[in-house]
Amino acid sequence: MKIIVCENYDEMSKVGADIIAELVAEKPDCILGLATGSTPVGMYKELAAKNKAGEITFKDVTSFNLDEYYPLAPDHDQSYRYFMNHNLFDHIDIDKTRTHVPDGLAEDPALMGKNYDAAITAAGGIDLQVLGLGPNGHIAFNEPEKELYVGTHLTSLTDSTIEANSRFFASKSDVPTKAVTMGIGSIMQARKIIVLASGKGKHYVVEKMQDDRITTEVPATLLKVHPDVTLICDKDAYNG
Ligand code: F6R
Repeated sequence: MKIIVCENYDEMSKVGADIIAELVAEKPDCILGLATGSTPVGMYKELAAKNKAGEITFKDVTSFNLDEYYPLAPDHDQSYRYFMNHNLFDHIDIDKTRTHVPDGLAEDPALMGKNYDAAITAAGGIDLQVLGLGPNGHIAFNEPEKELYVGTHLTSLTDSTIEANSRFFASKSDVPTKAVTMGIGSIMQARKIIVLASGKGKHYVVEKMQDDRITTEVPATLLKVHPDVTLICDKDAYNG
């Protein structure tokens, strides 16, 4: 795993955006795997600025997001579809019909998950996957557990994740307790992965990602077996 330690959040955002911009310039019809949460917001702003300045175009790019709350409608203002439109897609020239977010209202989430993974494969597979880190080590919504799923599936959120994400909702009781999320296999099949981490709250996981062991109890450690992962973190996440 390659590690890039940045001075602060802004530098981390720029480094991440440069890596994506380079890929999009090289392969204009690339497939991006995208994440929500606070961490990539600055990177998405940088990408929108590059697009506005005419440095890159997303017109032939396809995207697949990692996860969505369940059950939650795409037009709900806390949905991850809403987040992506608001923080990225509305500000770039991407064709929204090429942007995919798992269906938070799927009647049969298992079938939806199978179809989601099949759609990724049919599109040619993810060229570059963006990941954030849960303070407990989750990646997407693969929470610390004895056994993890390979493919996209319905999952329950841990209390610590519900607590962490309650900052976006009116109260903790409004946070959905479930989500549909790509599995570890869906993530591992990406050709390249960049992981963004900012702030002292991520130090525990960043440290766990650097020893020579893996454990499903800290899902981010599983990334050590992927051949092309770059962890881009700021000094607070790196040093604690
Ligand atoms: C979001 C996702 C989550 C977040 C993680 C970190 O699509 O899959 O795993 O990346 O919870 O969230 P932030 O960036 O808000 O700290």
